[in-house]
Amino acid sequence: MKKLTVEGATKDSQILVGESLANLESYIPEGVGKRIIITDENVHALYKDKFPAWETIIVGTGEKAKTLETAGYIYNRLIELEADRTSYIVGIGGGIVCDVTGFIASTYMRGIGFGFVSTTLLAQVDASVGGKNGVNFEGFKNMVGVFNQPDFVICDLATLKTLPTNDLLCGFAEILKHGAIKSEDHFRDLEENWEKMVNLDLEALERLVYDSVAIKAAVVNADEREKGERKKLNFGHTIGHAIEKTTGRNHGESVSAGIVAASRLSVQEGLITQNLFDRIIALLEKLGLPVKLDIDKEKVIDALKKDKKRAGEKINFVLLQELGDAVVMDFAIPDIASLVNELGWG
Ligand SMILES: NC(=O)c1ccc[n+]([C@@H]2O[C@H](COP(=O)([O-])OP(=O)(O)OC[C@H]3O[C@@H](n4cnc5c(N)ncnc54)[C@H](O)[C@@H]3O)[C@@H](O)[C@H]2O)c1
Ligand SMILES: [Zn+2]
Repeated sequence: MKKLTVEGATKDSQILVGESLANLESYIPEGVGKRIIITDENVHALYKDKFPAWETIIVGTGEKAKTLETAGYIYNRLIELEADRTSYIVGIGGGIVCDVTGFIASTYMRGIGFGFVSTTLLAQVDASVGGKNGVNFEGFKNMVGVFNQPDFVICDLATLKTLPTNDLLCGFAEILKHGAIKSEDHFRDLEENWEKMVNLDLEALERLVYDSVAIKAAVVNADEREKGERKKLNFGHTIGHAIEKTTGRNHGESVSAGIVAASRLSVQEGLITQNLFDRIIALLEKLGLPVKLDIDKEKVIDALKKDKKRAGEKINFVLLQELGDAVVMDFAIPDIASLVNELGWG
């Protein structure tokens, strides 16, 4: 097991990579009252036998469950269970469960203690690090939420064995992104050991997940409220989100295509070499991620125009200037439109 401390503005958070769900009880702070689990239907069905014998609140799955209605249901259940300010909540599940749990624990009675057991690769390397919690509202993603750190995050790597491939791909895309924008070593490790990771070799996973978390944690520590440095985490995500919205492809696949587009633009701007571009494409392909998607260009460009990161006629775009080093630049919408056209997709 590898441990990392993330220093948050309000409190520190311990990330425990390679720890087991079975040891959850030992991380609960002393003196807390009633302990309550929030989880989703799938994770409950698969892992309930490993849960401690606490009251458990089960929510639905998918973005449709990440809502104020679900939050309302949970507040009601907490009241029924007579949860008070001494109670403690642990979210066991993927990014959706963690986002909802953090939001509930930060708002119920103005905030009670909480931790996470992350059971998806995306939650482990991305969603449970950084203190962002929240829910969707009327179709707008993450519209309502708070910044607050959990006391601990257990990344139980063994749970990844039951994770569907599509969900693993989401995590792979974020790990590659972290290497590309912040660490040549991490990227090389992935180039050398991708096969072990894809086969869920626990030793390789522990190192790669830990290093990836450490990168995200360092970026977040430097910029907890997303003023500058944290924008680099959007590498591949500007076009990626537009593709996700318009094609319905999953987050990992869309971000993969977004990484291709952002890398292509980095070559066009004379920032990186064709050789580095080729390495990125080769690694995405090895991980099973798409490097080309059928898209409706008009719709993608339209979605880009509605992006919340847009400032006037310009869009913030993250490019690479070398392996392990990213830069945030502004581009005019027509320039991005011609990039999308030149990709030759769709
Ligand atoms: N807070 C943040 O900083 C942050 C960052 C990135 C993403 N997110 C959010 O995370 C969410 C996506 O998270 P996700 O990809 O983990 O999705 P998810 O929570 O929906 O999990 C994916 C699916 O896998 C199932 N599942 C979870 N663990 C499993 C396991 N071990 N075995 C089998 N099935 C399992 C879930 O029930 C679900 O069906 C999005 O809502 C996104 O906005 C938040
Ligand atoms: Zn992402």
